[in-house]
Amino acid sequence: MNYVGLKPTNIESVVDDLNRLLSNYHIYYQNLRNYHWNVTGPNFFDLHEKFEELYNDAKVSIDEIAERILTLRESPTSTLSEYLEMSDIDEKSTKDPHKMVEFVLEDHKMLIENMRSVIERAGKASDEGTIDLIAGFLATLEKKSWMLDAWHSRVYA
Ligand SMILES: [Fe+2]
Repeated sequence: MNYVGLKPTNIESVVDDLNRLLSNYHIYYQNLRNYHWNVTGPNFFDLHEKFEELYNDAKVSIDEIAERILTLRESPTSTLSEYLEMSDIDEKSTKDPHKMVEFVLEDHKMLIENMRSVIERAGKASDEGTIDLIAGFLATLEKKSWMLDAWHSRVYA
């Protein structure tokens, strides 16, 4: 039963973009785990903990996005090879804590762009449920970016 009452043809492009977001989030998640494990230096405790907080948030968002796709009666992309192929975010690796924070901010920028695109497509499809979900993530990520940037410019000024 089409319980959401949205036109399947309009929803297709929303789901494509949600799957791209899901892929981007997975690469971002793994980048954060990499930094959490490999960070060293005088800011170890701050950054080790911050990266963990961010990847735990990402994990929650990942699940919500996949379940939104299922709610729209479509299939979430579910394999790592597909995520690598579909994502705009690159796998990143560095031992430099300064670079790690810059990379996180770059990934946030990419996620934010992807989210704005989802919201635009969802608007055209009258898919308010997706707009509501993704707009919440968007505002949270923007705020986290501001905080990271404020910390980053203070510590590394
Ligand atoms: Fe840990």
